[in-house]
Amino acid sequence: MSQITIHGGKPLTGSIELKGAKNLVTKAMVAALLGETPSVLRDVPHISDVEVVSRLLQLHGVNIDHDPITGDMHMDPSNVEQARMVDIDAHAGSSRIPILFCGPLLHRLGEAFIPGLGGCEIGNRPVDFHFDVLRSFGAVIEKLPTGTRLSAPEGLKGAKINLPYPSVGATEQVLLSATTADGLTELSGAAIEPEIIDLIAILQKMGAIISVDTDRVIRIEGVKKLHGYNHRAIPDRNEAASWAAAALATQGDIFVGGANQVDMMTFLNVFRKVGGAFDVLQNGIRFYHPGTDLNPVVIETDVHPGFMTDWQQPLVVAMTQAQGLSIVHETVYENRFGFTEALNAMGAQIQIYRECLGGTPCRFGQRNFYHSAVISGPTPLVGADIRVPDLRGGFSHVVAALAATGTSNVSNIQLISRGYEKFLEKLDALGADFEFEA
Ligand code: EPU
Repeated sequence: MSQITIHGGKPLTGSIELKGAKNLVTKAMVAALLGETPSVLRDVPHISDVEVVSRLLQLHGVNIDHDPITGDMHMDPSNVEQARMVDIDAHAGSSRIPILFCGPLLHRLGEAFIPGLGGCEIGNRPVDFHFDVLRSFGAVIEKLPTGTRLSAPEGLKGAKINLPYPSVGATEQVLLSATTADGLTELSGAAIEPEIIDLIAILQKMGAIISVDTDRVIRIEGVKKLHGYNHRAIPDRNEAASWAAAALATQGDIFVGGANQVDMMTFLNVFRKVGGAFDVLQNGIRFYHPGTDLNPVVIETDVHPGFMTDWQQPLVVAMTQAQGLSIVHETVYENRFGFTEALNAMGAQIQIYRECLGGTPCRFGQRNFYHSAVISGPTPLVGADIRVPDLRGGFSHVVAALAATGTSNVSNIQLISRGYEKFLEKLDALGADFEFEA
C-alpha cells in the first residue's frame, strides 16, 4: 500500500494533458476482440484498468502493443483462443470490465469464462441486467465458485431488450453482443453517455450497423463479421472535471489540455454556478478560482445528459468552501458518500441522509441508503491521516489535503492510478508540495 504526505494550502497551478477516457478505452479494447483484423486505438492512458484488460486480452490470444508515451495501442485478435480458467481467475476482483468479454468471446469461441468482478465499492453493483441481456441473446450462464461460465450452443440471436435503468455497462453489453448476433436487436432504456456513443462509432468503423434513435432506443442490425478499427478515444471528461474541482478547491488555475466543452456542458454549468471560472480555448479548457466567494449549489447526479455521478466527489470539496448550504442528491449509486467521513475529519461539515433531497426519480428513497448530502460552508480544512476508499472519493481526499492547512498522510493512493494517468507527476507539475512513499 502506497501513501503520500501532502503539505496543503498551496494553489494548484499549471497545465496537464488528458488522454482517452478510462470508461471508453477499456471497452474499445474489448471491442477489438470482435474484429477479424488488427485494431489501433489512440490516446490510451497508462492506468491499471488498461493493464488488467490488456492482460485478459493477452490470455485470450490477442497480441497487444501499447506505447505509454504516445498512447497508441495495437491489438491483433487473429488468434483468439480459450484462456485457462486458472489464469483468468488470477484477475478476480481487479476490475468490472471482464463482464463485457462475454458477448465477444461467445461470438469468437462459443464459450466464455469470466472471473469474479472488482471495481470501486460505491454500492452493491449487481450484474443482473448483464446476465438478463446475455440470456435474451441465447447465452447459457453457469455460476461457479470462482467465476461465471457461459456458452451459446446455438450462437447469439438478436433480441428485443428493455433495460429497467439506463445502465452504462448493460448498454455496452448489448452493443458488444448484438453487432454480430443473428438478426435485429432493439434496445430501449439505453444509456447514451458520450463514451457509449464513441463505442458505437468504433463499432461502426468495424462494419456494424447501429442507429441511436430518440427516447434512449438503439437499434442494431447484426452483421456476419467485423474488421479492425483505427480510432482516437474521446478525452476523459471525468478526469477533466476532477482537475477543474481541484483548481477551485485549492484557489488555483489549471489548464486541462484536450478537455472537450460539448461533453462537459452540464458540469460547466454547475462549475459556473458554484463560482468557478473557465475559458474554453482551442485545445482545452482553463479552470480557475476567480478570487471571489464561492456559492452554495443544489445538484442531483443522473445518467447523461444529467450531472455525472463521477463528478460529485471532487466538487464536494469545493462546496465545503462555499458560503452556505449545498445539497447533493446521488441517484446513480446508493453508497457514494463514504468519502465524506474523511472530509469531516478534516473540518468539513457534511451531513448525509437516507431521504431523497431532490425531485429526480431515484431508486434509493425510503430505503436504508445514505444517498443525499448537505454540505455547510465555508469550513477551513486541516490536514489529517486519511485512507483512499475508491477512485473518485480518493481523488477528493487528495484535493481536500491540498486545500487544507497543515500536513495530511493519504494512504492506499495506488487506487487512484486505476483511473488517473501519471497522477503524481501531474500533481508535481501543478506545484503540489508532497512526498511519495511506495
Ligand atoms: N445496475 C444494476 N444492475 C446491473 C448493472 C447496473 O442494478 O446489472 C445499477 C448499478 O448498481 C448502479 C446503476 O445501475 O446503481 C448504474 O450502473 P452502470 O451500469 O451505469 O455503471 P457501470 O457501467 O458499472 C460505469 C462507469 C462508472 C460510472 C457509471 C455511471 C466504467 C468502467 N464505469 O459503471 O465509472 O460511474 O458507469 O456513469 O465505465 C468511475 O469511473 O469511477 C466509475 C465508477
